[in-house]
Amino acid sequence: MRIEDIKERLEKEINDVKNLKELNELHIRYLGRKGIITELNSKIKDVPNDKKKEFGMKVNSLKNYFNENYDKMRNNFEDIELNKKLEKEYIDISLPSTKIEVGAPHILEKLIEEVEEIFMSMGYDVVDGPEVEEDKYNFEMLNIPKGHPARDAQDTFYIEGEEVLLRSQTSPVQVRSMLKAKGEKPVRVICPGKTYRRDDDDATHSHQFMQIEGLLVDKNISLSDLKGTIDVVVKKLFGNDVETRFRPSYYQFTEPSVEVDISCFNCKGNGCSICKHTGWITIAGAGVVHPNVLRMSGYDPDIWSGFAFGFGAERMAMLKYDISDLRVFYNTDLREIKNFDREEINNND
Ligand code: DAH
Repeated sequence: MRIEDIKERLEKEINDVKNLKELNELHIRYLGRKGIITELNSKIKDVPNDKKKEFGMKVNSLKNYFNENYDKMRNNFEDIELNKKLEKEYIDISLPSTKIEVGAPHILEKLIEEVEEIFMSMGYDVVDGPEVEEDKYNFEMLNIPKGHPARDAQDTFYIEGEEVLLRSQTSPVQVRSMLKAKGEKPVRVICPGKTYRRDDDDATHSHQFMQIEGLLVDKNISLSDLKGTIDVVVKKLFGNDVETRFRPSYYQFTEPSVEVDISCFNCKGNGCSICKHTGWITIAGAGVVHPNVLRMSGYDPDIWSGFAFGFGAERMAMLKYDISDLRVFYNTDLREIKNFDREEINNND
């Protein structure tokens, strides 16, 4: 077949191509391994010398003709396909985007941080103590010897025999802090932390809960120093019109011992469900450090004196944020936890 005829046929076929797929087929037919133009190319060498140049030029121009059209058509078809795709995949930029959830500190953490800030502003250090504790620190050096009935109320989980246990209170940190100061210098610490007891979990009890312990040891410290300190903290946490009251109580490591009540910030002392219609709410145990405790931890009670207190962190958070079930703090239902996120708490303040 003459090259001119081939070109004529190619022109027709080019006109018939309707899409990328057909264009590719055309490419294979003409420039594939056994394509028409490829074969013509390989024939150039067999053409007699005097015709070779002319034949070669014709094959070349046919090839250029093919390539020019091929490129143009390819671009064209690709544009068409792209436009079709764009039409289908239309993005509405006015639609709201996926919401990114922002976390917030746990409500107990928030309360503890608030209490820490208040005490730090009064010169207290925030210290830590082990949750796996020795009987010696959790009981004995707090004036609760083996067999003392006070231990019954603080039954806990034992790790090794009777000597290593999960601390039932943060009070052992008092002993540890005094031992560290070696009976030589004043101590002013608070210790927020987890405590454990063999309690059945319900709305007001948990086998694991948080206390905020406090200890101040110095010279000439009395119950009135304790009262003044607690009063400042309570007013900062619950409001300036909230009053503090001490009720006599009994703890083995303080003498005298007291229960710390605050006037009900909800009903202003008139009686409501939060204060069980008494006008007062108990938030801590406290007292003047017992001389035996000072002595056992290396402080001479004739020179040194001090006060100590233990707040229930959950109890304070439940009061401050009006939560009626302790389990809300520990279960993993985000819907409940989220009810108390940062924004809401700030608005309630
Ligand atoms: N540790 C006590 C308890 O768990 C609370 C307490 C009472 C702590 C009096 C004190 C304190 O530091 O002085 O019931």
